[in-house]
Amino acid sequence: MRHQVVIIGAGPAGLMLGRLLEIAGVDAVILEQRSPEYVLGRIRAGVLEQGSVDLLRRVGAGGRMDSEGHLHAGASFEFDGDALRIDFAELVGRQVMVYGQTEVTRDLMALRCAPTIYGAEDVALHDFGGAAPYVTYRKDGVEQRIDCDFIAGCDGFHGVSRASVPAGAITEFQRVYPFGWLGVLVDQPPAADELVYAHHARGFALCSQRSPSRSRYYVQVGADEKLADWSDDRFWDELRARLSPKVAAAVQTGAAIEKSIAPLRSFVAEPLRFGRLFLAGDAAHIVPPTGAKGLNLAMSDVEMLGDALIEALVERSDAGIDAYSARVLRRIWKAERFSWWMTNLLHVFPDGGDFGRRIQRAEFDYLAGSRAAQQSLAENYTGAF
Ligand code: FAD
Ligand code: PHB
Repeated sequence: MRHQVVIIGAGPAGLMLGRLLEIAGVDAVILEQRSPEYVLGRIRAGVLEQGSVDLLRRVGAGGRMDSEGHLHAGASFEFDGDALRIDFAELVGRQVMVYGQTEVTRDLMALRCAPTIYGAEDVALHDFGGAAPYVTYRKDGVEQRIDCDFIAGCDGFHGVSRASVPAGAITEFQRVYPFGWLGVLVDQPPAADELVYAHHARGFALCSQRSPSRSRYYVQVGADEKLADWSDDRFWDELRARLSPKVAAAVQTGAAIEKSIAPLRSFVAEPLRFGRLFLAGDAAHIVPPTGAKGLNLAMSDVEMLGDALIEALVERSDAGIDAYSARVLRRIWKAERFSWWMTNLLHVFPDGGDFGRRIQRAEFDYLAGSRAAQQSLAENYTGAF
């Protein structure tokens, strides 16, 4: 088999890249180790920046998002029960779209993207440092080989693409936080019209939503916490204890339809090009979910990678692929800084002590009193950078 581009991974990054290449007439294929049902079963992001919204519309995947998603003009931030609303629309003239990653993935899957081979086992990348790279994998017990011009590693943090790069050629920057997020999805109306991010002495909490009848909630938990120790009742009690009385009273509980724990990590690999291999999305970087940036970064990476590959394969110019790594890394580090800042402000750090919490309170008070600080938050959160 031969294709111009082999994309590894059919998460949002891989599917969007496949769609962009398909539209441009580039011959690509996507290799995904899991099944479509498994990919759709992962409950993750919920907030899309304007850039992601525009891109989804541009590739013809915006229909359901525009009718079922919800534009939010602001969000609430609480500190020990004191509330502050940040008005994105008034401060920076932008809004965010609340629409789940699962739905984005479903909408992309429904379009004609590059053909996707699900259940591709033991994917391996070969000779991407030279002129003739190829990828091997096993499907239904049969070994396969695809020769190609380029490989796009869109296979997430634990994927094979980044792991295939020789150790000496890549530098990794990482911070692992001493806590995780326990998330619950429930078929109940949201507690508030907009998202509520809360810092409390007991830890961080977030009220998010998927639709007028489906809510997504998170609480900070210890890094070693076990899901089995969190009954639905314990979760609801803990969530309410961390919110202002008004929001806590509005939380409508029910049986969790999904419950999972995600560790928090900041991570960046540099560079993002190795000969004919490019990394994009979570394969290249991880942000803690506090700033709602992961999916949005994945979208902006593949928008630039798509343009670069099309330039190389259709227009025969290497300018885009040569510039790719440096260009996306500038945006990545901005999102890393913001996500790190939000995480530091809103979580309780086990070794932070009383001084740490008073500094966090001072930061919150500064935010409440400074239009410039609010503008900076709004600019970063909505992706206006
Ligand atoms: P993934 O979604 O990880 O997709 C990678 C794909 O590659 C997977 O389907 C995987 O099965 C496949 N794969 C892996 N290894 C191989 C292999 N060896 N061979 C073949 N296929 C392989 N982001 C936001 O923007 N906003 C939010 O509000 C937000 N909230 C989040 C909340 C939580 C709890 C979590 C965990 C994440 C959140 N994120 C958020 C981050 C966001 O979900 C990710 O950044 C996003 O999924 C990245 O997409 P991706 O396509 O790069 O990677
Ligand atoms: C979500 O709805 O899953 C969500 C929203 C905002 C975040 C993180 C996750 O910052």
